[in-house]
Parts: sequence; structure tokens; C-alpha cells
Amino acid sequence: MVIKTATFVKSSGKWQDCPEPTIPEYAFIGRSNVGKSSLINAMMNHKDLAKTSQTPGKTQLINHFIVNDSWYLTDLPGYGYAKVSKSIRKDFEKLITNYILNRRNLVNLFVLVDSRHKPQAIDLEFIQWCGESGVPFSIVFTKVDKLKPNVAIKNVEDYKAELHKTWEDLPELYVTSAEKKVGGEEILNFIQKTNEFLINNSVSFDE
Ligand code: GTP
Ligand code: MG
Repeated sequence: MVIKTATFVKSSGKWQDCPEPTIPEYAFIGRSNVGKSSLINAMMNHKDLAKTSQTPGKTQLINHFIVNDSWYLTDLPGYGYAKVSKSIRKDFEKLITNYILNRRNLVNLFVLVDSRHKPQAIDLEFIQWCGESGVPFSIVFTKVDKLKPNVAIKNVEDYKAELHKTWEDLPELYVTSAEKKVGGEEILNFIQKTNEFLINNSVSFDE
């Protein structure tokens, strides 16, 4: 997909405040610091469209970007950020789950996991919740530039094996690096194909 325009729309503190759900939407979710905002910038070819930080917990609101005037790309706050109080963490979780369950134009969620780590309980729990809640999602491995290729392949295979313990069919998997601009094109191709499918089937998000 050619990115002609990518523009910030607004930040929202609750799902009811998000922009009108009239066009297809794709959202990035994952642990704090996993690289959601960085990958959005890499895919949009834009240095600081989404704000990034070395300190976890940078994105605390739901950020909407509109791409090619036709679909939303959404940067969600990270889950599992340890350095905030339990009640704030709960508020974040509520914000995220309410958004996911109520946003009727949300076509696919991209769940980002750090390719360097073994499957983490918090991610597996979140993936489990998506499956049980019927939320369409894909898994995106991030920061693959930090690994030797053979280690990256092994980690992805280990992750698949872990998921196979619960799921027979696995979701789409993407291996990415925001730093080296790897994998973003594949995600954009998926989005393009999905958007075309929605248009060809006259899918509308009206209530
Ligand atoms: P929160 O908004 O806090 O939830 O974090 P986030 O998931 O949006 O992460 P962010 O994009 O802010 O990146 C966190 C840190 O990881 C930053 O220091 C980035 O530079 C670094 N980072 C992100 N993606 C990559 C990558 O592909 N490769 C490398 N080497 N570093 C990355
Ligand atoms: Mg962020």
C-alpha cells in the first residue's frame, strides 16, 4: 500500500470520545514499551506521528490516525505497565477492553509481542481473552533487529508451539522491526486486502 497521507486525528480518554466509527479501523496493542508507536511511525514513514519513548507508559490515551483519508490506524496504551498503581493499571485495562469490545468499526487488532522474549503470561492471557471474546487479531513480533536471524526464527517457532497448546488454527503472524523497517509492508498489504474486501462486500459500520 502506498501511504499518501497519515494524519493525527485525536487522543481519547474513553471509547465514547473516539472519532465517528464510519470507516475501517485497525489498532495496535501490546505491553508497554513493546514498540507500538515506533512501528506505526515506521509503517507510515513518519518520524514522530505517534509519540515514542524509552520509558514505558508513554501512550496513555487512545490515539487515532487517519490514513489515505480512508481508514483509521489506532495506537492504544500499553497494558501491564508495572510502575503505576494497581488502580491506574485497572483504569487502563478498562479503557482498552471497553474500546475493543465496543468499537464497532474495529476490523483487526494487531497484538504486538517482543520477539526477544519467551511467551509472557500477560500476553498469552490477553491473546486468550481476544480468542474468547471473538476479537479478530494478528500477532506481530517486534524489535527483530535485536536478534540474530536464527534466534528470531527459533523464538517465533517457540511462540507458535505455545499457542498451539490452546489453538488449532493460529492467527496471522508478522515479524517486524521498526528500526530496520521490516515487516510493516506485509501488515499494510493485509490492511489493503481487508479494506478491498469490505468495499467489495459493501460492509458498512452503521448501527
Ligand atoms: P508505550 O506507549 O509506553 O506503551 O510503548 P510503545 O509500545 O508505544 O513503545 P515505543 O514505540 O514507544 O518504543 C519503546 C522503545 O523501544 C523505544 O525506545 C524505541 O526506540 C524502542 N523500539 C521500538 N521499536 C523498535 C525496533 O524495532 N527496534 C529497536 N531496536 N528498538 C525499538
Ligand atoms: Mg506508545
